[in-house]
Amino acid sequence: MTPDEPAGGWEALRAEAVAASAHAYAPYSRFRVGAAALVDDGRVVSGCNVENAAYGVALCAECGLVSQLHRSGGGRLTHFVCVDGEERLIMPCGRCRQLLWENGGPDLLLLTGRGVRRMDEVLPDAFGADDLG
Ligand code: THU
Repeated sequence: MTPDEPAGGWEALRAEAVAASAHAYAPYSRFRVGAAALVDDGRVVSGCNVENAAYGVALCAECGLVSQLHRSGGGRLTHFVCVDGEERLIMPCGRCRQLLWENGGPDLLLLTGRGVRRMDEVLPDAFGADDLG
């Protein structure tokens, strides 16, 4: 296991994301998404996308994940994986990168199709809590 790997390994975390994607409610886009993350105390949190007839209010999988993070005790995200309905790795959308920044910070690691990336690589020059000073 490399230092970049989550306890249990990336494949186990990816399997959690795949399992979450099975619960996606995506009747409009038909694009199912599952996301899973390891928390700094060892918990695993996950989420799926939930769409709406008013298309613009769709909830990304990451929204559910972050909600579960707080509902289950908070903490910091350390490792993150997101997949589509074909189990392919996908990148989080721009808005969700901001959600991940808030809850994982620059050191959060993401498993992407191009390897493991740090949060500050996928959201450089991020706006964050420090900017509110
Ligand atoms: N989606 C996510 O759940 N997460 C992302 O990071 C990218 C997009 C969802 C939103 C919508 O339900 C569907 O994928 C198509 O955009």
